[in-house]
Amino acid sequence: MIGRSNVGKSSLINMLTRSDGLAKVSQVPGKTRLINFFTINKAWNLVDLPGYGYAKVGRKQRESFSAAVSDYLRERENLRGSFVLIDSRLSPQKLDLEFLQWMVENGLAFVLVFTKTDKLCSDAVERNIQTFLTQMCQITEEQPTYVLSSSKAGQGRSEIFGLINAARAEKLEASI
Ligand code: GTP
Ligand code: MG
Repeated sequence: MIGRSNVGKSSLINMLTRSDGLAKVSQVPGKTRLINFFTINKAWNLVDLPGYGYAKVGRKQRESFSAAVSDYLRERENLRGSFVLIDSRLSPQKLDLEFLQWMVENGLAFVLVFTKTDKLCSDAVERNIQTFLTQMCQITEEQPTYVLSSSKAGQGRSEIFGLINAARAEKLEASI
């Protein structure tokens, strides 16, 4: 799980695992500062990455976050894919688009997750998603896979597990 600070990465992990308090959630951005691994059924890991774009830590610390995160995303051999979380309430944010550009440049597979859909009416969510996808056309020719989610309402859970299971099955097939 990767995305801007406060977008809802840790909340999503708690929603997926149905374990409130497993990943630490906070209203204050910058809560997750380490790369946290949550082992599921002793078989695979959900990874909670520190958010990007959190201005309140010192510059040096901020750089080391992004270095740790970018090394992880680029070099972790058994990383099957990333969910890039985008706040569904907002118009496209430069920081998110820059991050996605970096993902594409590095050939990293991702699925977009539009978070906090419970906070807006569905028409407004749909409009924001379409605007975002239009901007994505300038970054990649491929139409990205995307999911709508609300950690509060449990929306997106089965779709996200479907995508995770498909990625895991691909890996098993490749290793046979
Ligand atoms: P960092 O660890 O700081 O990068 O943040 P994060 O991306 O892990 O966000 P976190 O899960 O801590 O959530 C940030 C805030 O958004 C908290 O106050 C959550 O309760 C709230 N939040 C997260 N997801 C949802 C959602 O789907 N709906 C609503 N209404 N609030 C949400
Ligand atoms: Mg967090």
